[in-house]
Amino acid sequence: MTRLWDRNEPLDRLVLEFTAGEDHALDDRLVAHDVRASAAHAEMLCAAGYLSQADHAAVQRALLAIGAAHARGEWRVALEEEDCHTALENRLTAAVGEAGRRIHLGRSRNDQVLAALRLWLKGELAALAGEAEGVAAALDAIAQSRGALVMPGYTHMQRAMPTTLGGWAGAFAAELRDDATGLAAARRRADLNPLGSAAGYGVPVLALDRSLTTRALGFAAAHEPVTAVQLSRGKAEAGALFEAALLAQDLGRLAADLCLFATAEFGFVRLPAALTTGSSMLPQKRNPDLFELVRGRTGEAAAALAELLAVTAKMPSGYHRDLQLIKKPLFRGFDSVSASARLLAHALPGIEFDEARMRGAVDPSLRAAERAYRMVVELGLPFREAYRRAQET
Ligand code: ARG
Repeated sequence: MTRLWDRNEPLDRLVLEFTAGEDHALDDRLVAHDVRASAAHAEMLCAAGYLSQADHAAVQRALLAIGAAHARGEWRVALEEEDCHTALENRLTAAVGEAGRRIHLGRSRNDQVLAALRLWLKGELAALAGEAEGVAAALDAIAQSRGALVMPGYTHMQRAMPTTLGGWAGAFAAELRDDATGLAAARRRADLNPLGSAAGYGVPVLALDRSLTTRALGFAAAHEPVTAVQLSRGKAEAGALFEAALLAQDLGRLAADLCLFATAEFGFVRLPAALTTGSSMLPQKRNPDLFELVRGRTGEAAAALAELLAVTAKMPSGYHRDLQLIKKPLFRGFDSVSASARLLAHALPGIEFDEARMRGAVDPSLRAAERAYRMVVELGLPFREAYRRAQET
């Protein structure tokens, strides 16, 4: 397998390993999307008269077969190929010969990688929003079945006022739905079709129809002007990682509450044995490691965002190979938050709440503000006077 730009001059092995690095392996996630974008590009080339009907049909059949074989795990992007775009074109040419060698007309790997990444990102944003909704639904179920259970509300980790389990669960459910809305809104920047911008300065000579690939791939519009496309690389990814980081924060705070509630001192929740881990030394222990790790992983998406922003910061305009370094933190950040969300949606239904312990923690002092408000309403006292009297009762 050769690289698309090879001119029979051997590439230094260390340079290949350094430049293609992990990128070829990361690109395995993009293969299905590159197949889709390549099919749309071929359809456009055919409609514009640059690819015959027969070549087009052969290319479409081969793309489907190559994509399906990849999905079955029958091939992977090899280091020698650098990236998924090269791997795909190599296989296409091997399958259909001359027709495969016509497909790269009017495009560059620079717009190709953006098309595949944006298709990937749109899918992942929807999937992660769905996972946030899944955790919210598990909290809804808790609120519905045991929402009336009384428990203390805390400020400064001190008991403040009575609240209910429904109030606690409903708060997290609402914020997780807000995170899902944020993730859905982050789609905007990923919804622009980069195809047709080619290396970053458009396509000379040819009359390409960008609206055809825009429609075929379900993008909201073509990204204009073509010179802005490479400048935008990383922005859709950064917006998405920011929203993912906010979701991670809410999942981490939910997990932090559950760690606290599972202590003997609180005793509000009991975790079934299957959800806990043991101690190698202390036979009596069952630990809430799963919630600790969700809490501990809160920083991963934020760290990924910082890494990504450092790649594009101060970079001159146009394409630079640095830009491929965005993929790794992007995938890592999304994987992290998605794993935490799926774990919590899985674990929440198994949690038991101890009604007596929760109610027992609501001592009469927590109703002091309530007593003061009654004195205001029933006796007409100024609030400050009622506040003073409520302290004494
Ligand atoms: N792996 C590359 C990336 O993610 C693909 C584009 C390569 N383009 C190039 N001109 N070398 O940016």
